[in-house]
Amino acid sequence: MDTPNLSPETLALHTGIHRSEANEMSEGMYLTQGYAYESAEQARDAFAGAIDIYMYSRYANPTVTAFEERLAAIEGAERCFATSTGMSAVFVALGSILGSGDRLVAAKALFGSTLQTFTNFFEKWGIQIDYVDGNDADAWETALATPAKVVFIESPTNPMQDVLDIPFIAEKAHAAGAMLIVDNVFATPLGQKPLELGADAVVYSATKHIDGQGRVLGGAILGSDEYVYGPVRQMVRNMGATISPFNAWVLLKGLETLGVRVRAQAAAALDLASWMEQHPKIDSLRYPLLPSHPHYERAVKQMTLGGRS
Ligand SMILES: Cc1ncc(COP(=O)(O)O)c(C=O)c1O
Repeated sequence: MDTPNLSPETLALHTGIHRSEANEMSEGMYLTQGYAYESAEQARDAFAGAIDIYMYSRYANPTVTAFEERLAAIEGAERCFATSTGMSAVFVALGSILGSGDRLVAAKALFGSTLQTFTNFFEKWGIQIDYVDGNDADAWETALATPAKVVFIESPTNPMQDVLDIPFIAEKAHAAGAMLIVDNVFATPLGQKPLELGADAVVYSATKHIDGQGRVLGGAILGSDEYVYGPVRQMVRNMGATISPFNAWVLLKGLETLGVRVRAQAAAALDLASWMEQHPKIDSLRYPLLPSHPHYERAVKQMTLGGRS
């Protein structure tokens, strides 16, 4: 679908649609592990990669495809690949391209399980990891004066809400020969567009705002066709961090209401943060879209959501 200038809300309703012959209004849920073949020859050609059809749901599933296409349209990414959780998205986004001897540069402020993955596994597997204070421009300059394979950041960070300068870090990462991957969970696909700011890939825990009602776990990796349909897809398909079609359907429907939910939440969060800031029993408060936040100017420039609606 050609989608010039359509709003995310419109894209959330009109992309990723593959109606069956029943012409259902709400997308069908394909709860199947496998697919029938018309002939032995067709199965042979499919497994040889000569034709592209659904073969096995660890590889691909129509409900999952619908979710991936819809999220890619909203994000403005060439491709999306869904995963079982946000953590499997983080793991695969990095693990599919890093190997022994490669250098990963990451901002220090990371979600706990991401840090655990780095220290308990990536380091053990011979990946060199250098941590940088994400808001220290000189530290980025120094760290990325040496070549690296990947730079990984969160912005805003969980839980301290630091807002990192994505265009600056992207420029330094590219100069060091690295791709920049951004965990955009806190901002949501509506609140920040890392790919437009210079990043090469984005990861989500869809468990958060994309579901938005605490029902299912899920994740997604978005970026170029070469990266997402290359190493990312290869890894998820074979190691099995696949999302279930049921979860993908819940998230597909979640995308339809993402706009109204997240805009209302952002407006309420700003009201609440403004009230709390004045509260005599609160010593300090960090909310990126209040002028008291140290990265307020950057947040206003870089993020596209968060004010009063
Ligand atoms: C910033 C961030 N990244 C990744 C994750 C992991 O997501 P999941 O719980 O879906 O694995 C979380 C979960 O809270 C998160 O906050």
